[in-house]
Amino acid sequence: MFKANDNFAILPESYLFSEVARKIREFREANPDKELIRMDIGDVSLPLPAVVVDAMRDAATQMGESAGFHGYGPEQGYEFLRSLIAEHDYVRRGIECIGADDVFVSDGAKSDLGNFTDLFGKNVRIAVAEPGYPVYVDANVLAGRGGQEQSGRWSNFTYIECPASAGFRPSLPNDRADVIYLCYPNNPTGVALTRDELKKWVDFALANNSLIIFDSAYEAYITDSDVPRSIYEIEGAEKVAVEIRSFSKTAGFTGVRCGYTVVPRTLRFTFDSGEPADLNKMWRRRQSTKFNGVGYVVQCAAASLYTPEGKAAVKTHVDYYMRNARLLREALVEKGWEVVGGVNSPYVWFRPTVKEGNPGSWELFQKILDTANLSSTPGVGFGACGEGWLRFTGFNTAEKTLEATRRIKELTL
Ligand code: MLT
Repeated sequence: MFKANDNFAILPESYLFSEVARKIREFREANPDKELIRMDIGDVSLPLPAVVVDAMRDAATQMGESAGFHGYGPEQGYEFLRSLIAEHDYVRRGIECIGADDVFVSDGAKSDLGNFTDLFGKNVRIAVAEPGYPVYVDANVLAGRGGQEQSGRWSNFTYIECPASAGFRPSLPNDRADVIYLCYPNNPTGVALTRDELKKWVDFALANNSLIIFDSAYEAYITDSDVPRSIYEIEGAEKVAVEIRSFSKTAGFTGVRCGYTVVPRTLRFTFDSGEPADLNKMWRRRQSTKFNGVGYVVQCAAASLYTPEGKAAVKTHVDYYMRNARLLREALVEKGWEVVGGVNSPYVWFRPTVKEGNPGSWELFQKILDTANLSSTPGVGFGACGEGWLRFTGFNTAEKTLEATRRIKELTL
């Protein structure tokens, strides 16, 4: 008899953002006359830049002609795009150890974050910084690495707690872990690590033979000069870190789907047998088995972002969302609430002051939804350290963000 993957039975039934979306649907059905403003998931609101649309149109035209038609592409991504990524995002920024052969074009950061777990040994110890993007935990639970769940924590994982008292910054764990998930600038808190702070993690991984999965989806939002734009700015990171990036938040690609993962050829780990395991080769093998690459039209669209027009468009998008984040941050600070983020990140993380009681994140989410008709993302959805906190996104339009700040100012909880 067919037996289903038991890990689905132990995973919470709904993914965080699906649960938020469900509650929003319920609210809309019950309140059809209310004007809800979405401040929850980090979905972008600006349309695609003209340079991207032109590139897609040209590529689509080519695809309709015998001379320009492209069938299956290379699973790793077209060389033209991988070279642009290596050259512009790494070599020109002084990171010469990364080349086109280290880059794998993907259909977005989320899929690669989940799929990369295929490369981990069955019993590896996973460490996650908490609060953190729920995919790190959920994907490893599905692969059978979680153990038992109790109060939102899994017995086999090491939680790197980043509490409010530490400014949501991570401290090195007492024990080694095989795989360490880090996301900086952080989703959800917006906290960014300085070069010195990140170096501690790279040194820890080097000393302990650990792999760092560095989720760098929000790199374009960094404004502080002492915050590295890539983990490979830190010496030795090319031996221990995989970096995952996305065009979703920089150029409006949430619906287009394109990103990339850097798996340096210099990474060296081992199989159980002690034989060397080359992750770059393994990831290529994995992708060629389970993935047929990103569409030609989409890769041409991504390539257009490396032209002067494309770079200018990315800057316009990033500046626009950062202005929104700043406005939100200011409105929340003005209320006297605890606020983090919104400086090197489009997310603002906050803890409302309430008249009485000690409400949890979901209760606060519901109150703000009901009274101000603003949705948010409950902090506890990113792990126990996020309880009592909420996240607003700067990705809505400037007009709606302004209206949201007006409602925030009037809000009493
Ligand atoms: C978020 O809101 O945290 C992200 O947009 C979700 C995602 O990228 O999957």
